[in-house]
Amino acid sequence: MTTTRLLLLVTIFSFLHYLYVSSFEYQVGDHKGWAVPPANDTRIYNDWASENRFQVGDTVRFKYKKDSVMKVTEEEYKECNSSHPSFFSNTGNTLYKLNHSGPFYFVSGVSGHCERGQKIIIKVMAPEEDYPSHGGAKKSAASRSLSLPSGVFNLATCVQLLLSYVGSHVFF
Ligand SMILES: *[C@@H]1O[C@H](CO)[C@@H](O)[C@H](O)[C@H]1NC(C)=O
Ligand SMILES: *[C@@H]1O[C@H](CO)[C@@H](O)[C@H](O)[C@H]1NC(C)=O
Ligand SMILES: *[C@@H]1O[C@H](CO)[C@@H](O)[C@H](O)[C@H]1NC(C)=O
Repeated sequence: MTTTRLLLLVTIFSFLHYLYVSSFEYQVGDHKGWAVPPANDTRIYNDWASENRFQVGDTVRFKYKKDSVMKVTEEEYKECNSSHPSFFSNTGNTLYKLNHSGPFYFVSGVSGHCERGQKIIIKVMAPEEDYPSHGGAKKSAASRSLSLPSGVFNLATCVQLLLSYVGSHVFF
């Protein structure tokens, strides 16, 4: 039983380590993808962004059809000015790495789409905000593992490994 307990501890610690250290990939808008929002619900992208905790090193994936993604400045974001983007993609499946803290501004490059709400501000936390303390860690861990299937998969793998280990040592 001592070995089992040790293994349990190791599993828990490696899972926590995974949560805090690895980077995550978020799909912008979840299953809705990147498209012009419905006219009665134009805030969907910033609502989606406010539900997530983005950290340096995380990536965002934009999935869309006949559209584009541009990274712009704050001023250009406000005015839906897409004449000088610092990043442009129209592949239908764009992966962007959030490589520093602070806000990232993205708009659709298709005429009229940004004005109709297809724009998003992604605020990336500074590294010092990231360290778990004062009980804030639990919320962060839960929301991060929920927001990504691979996080859930990793938990499932840990549990499965643990169960098979316990099973083979305790029941046989
Ligand atoms: C927007 O309109 C659609 C269809 O007209 C409706 O199903 C949906 O609930 C509305 N959403 C909001 C946020 O009002
Ligand atoms: C759009 O932004 C660029 C600089 O990024 C600026 O030169 C241009 O005047 C702006 N256009 C409008 C219509 O504001
Ligand atoms: C982040 O990536 C952009 C575009 O790839 C690059 O221009 C910029 O220098 C990078 N910033 C940092 C802090 O690495």
